[in-house]
Amino acid sequence: MAASKVHPNYLKEIEKARRDLRALIYSKNCAPIMLRLAWHDAGTYDAKTETGGPNGSIRQDHELNHSANNGLRIAVELCEEVKARHREITYADLYQLAGVVAVEVTGGPTIDFVPGRKDSLESPEEGRLPDAKQGARHLRDIFYRMGLSDKDIVALSGGHTLGRAHPERSGFEGAWTKEPLKFDNSYFKELLKESDSDLLKLPTDKALVDDPKFRYYVQLYAKDEDAFFRDYAASHKKLSELGFISPSSLTMKVAVGVVAVAMAILLTRCSREIHK
Ligand code: HEM
Repeated sequence: MAASKVHPNYLKEIEKARRDLRALIYSKNCAPIMLRLAWHDAGTYDAKTETGGPNGSIRQDHELNHSANNGLRIAVELCEEVKARHREITYADLYQLAGVVAVEVTGGPTIDFVPGRKDSLESPEEGRLPDAKQGARHLRDIFYRMGLSDKDIVALSGGHTLGRAHPERSGFEGAWTKEPLKFDNSYFKELLKESDSDLLKLPTDKALVDDPKFRYYVQLYAKDEDAFFRDYAASHKKLSELGFISPSSLTMKVAVGVVAVAMAILLTRCSREIHK
C-alpha cells in the first residue's frame, strides 16, 4: 500500500477489512459484482464540476435505482457485512477496496490502494455512466468527462474479463470470456476473433475493435498480458482516485503552498529594500 497519512489505526482496519473482503469474495464467488460496484461508484466523476466519483454515494436508494445500477444492491448489501465489522472505514474506501481485492483474488494485477476517501450523500444525476448500446464517440464523451484517456478506456474495459450480463439487470446476456471468474487478457483475445461465438460482445465492446485508436490497445493487450496488467493497474488506480486528494498529497500541497507564500513575501521585502 502506498504511503498514506491516515491514522495508523485506520490503516490497521483497512488491512483487516481487506482480509474480510478476500474471504467474503471467495465464499460468495462475487468478485465480478464487487468490481462493478467499485466502478459504478467511481465512474460518475465529472472533472469540470468536481462532482460524483468514488465517494460511497451509490449506497443510497435513489442512486441504486438508476437503471445503470440494476443488480448492484446485492454488492452493497454484501459490503454491509464488512462495514459492520469495521465501522470507521468509509463506504467510499470500502467499495474501492472491494474492487481492488476482486481483481487481486481472481488472478489480476495488484493495484495500489491509498485510503482516506470521504463519504458523500450527494448523488450525481442519472446518466453519467456509459450506455452499452452506443459506440466510440459516447465512450470518449463519458471517460474524457472523468479526465481519463483512450488507453484508460480500453484497459478498464478489460474488467469484462470477469463476470456476465444478466437479462433482468441490463437486458444483455452471457459472459465475455470462457472463464468469467479468472482475471486475464482473454477478453481482448475473444474480441479479436472473427468467428461468432456464444460469448457476449456489447456494442461498446465492439467499438474498441472498430475504432483504430482503441484497436491499437486491444491488439497490444491480446498479445501481451503483462502490458495489459501494467496498464490496467494504473488505470484502475486512477479511476479509484478520481477527485480524491489523498491525505499525504494534501499535506504535500499545503507544504508547497506555505513555501511559495513565504518565498513571495521574502521576494517582495527584498525588492523593497533594493528600491529604497
Ligand atoms: C466501457 C463502458 C462499459 C459499459 C458500457 C459496461 C456495461 C456493462 C453491462 C451492460 C454489464 C452487464 C450488467 C448485468 O447485466 O449484470 C456490465 C457488467 C460488468 N461490468 Fe461493465 N461496462 C463498462 C465498463 C466497465 C468497466 C470500466 C469495468 C471495470 C473496470 C466493468 C466491469 C464490469 C463487470 C465486472 C461486470 C460483470 C458484473 C457481474 O457479473 O455481475 N465494466 N458492464
